[in-house]
Amino acid sequence: MAEEDGQLAGHILFTKAQVGEAEVLALAPLSVRPAFQRQGVGTALIEEGHRIARKMGYAYSIVLGSDSYYPRTGYREAVHFGVEVPDGIPSANFMAVRLREDARPLGGQIIYAEEFGM
Ligand SMILES: CC(C)(COP(=O)(O)OP(=O)(O)OC[C@H]1O[C@@H](n2cnc3c(N)ncnc32)[C@H](O)[C@@H]1OP(=O)(O)O)[C@@H](O)C(=O)NCCC(=O)NCCS
Repeated sequence: MAEEDGQLAGHILFTKAQVGEAEVLALAPLSVRPAFQRQGVGTALIEEGHRIARKMGYAYSIVLGSDSYYPRTGYREAVHFGVEVPDGIPSANFMAVRLREDARPLGGQIIYAEEFGM
């Protein structure tokens, strides 16, 4: 959660997902309240999330979202990391970021937590 002057400004959630043998994180959702948008809150939530994920040992985060927003925090097309693009999703919107230098390459389809219903 992001707070400013005691008010809730935004929220981010990362959920465990599987790509082949690797456990990765899936970023969703990210939301910033309208009054706090375009002030860097979304970017700060992503960067802090990545910092914590890295510390916990996660090597990749994957997101399905805007290809004009997420690249500013390091995301690029997940296909470059060996993740298959799910059917019906444009490759440009299915992105991943490598969080650790020692990350092994990925290979395979993403399996989201059951609650995503995907
Ligand atoms: C998308 C969202 C999380 C961005 O949060 P934010 O705190 O405003 O973002 P930041 O301040 O870190 O970055 C702002 C930049 O992002 C860009 N941006 C904002 N919303 C965007 C969107 N929906 N698509 C693409 N770019 C967007 C803006 O152009 C802005 O850049 P600029 O000010 O240089 O023009 C926020 O607008 C939001 O909650 N939107 C509704 C929910 C949503 O769409 N969530 C994403 C789900 S994938």
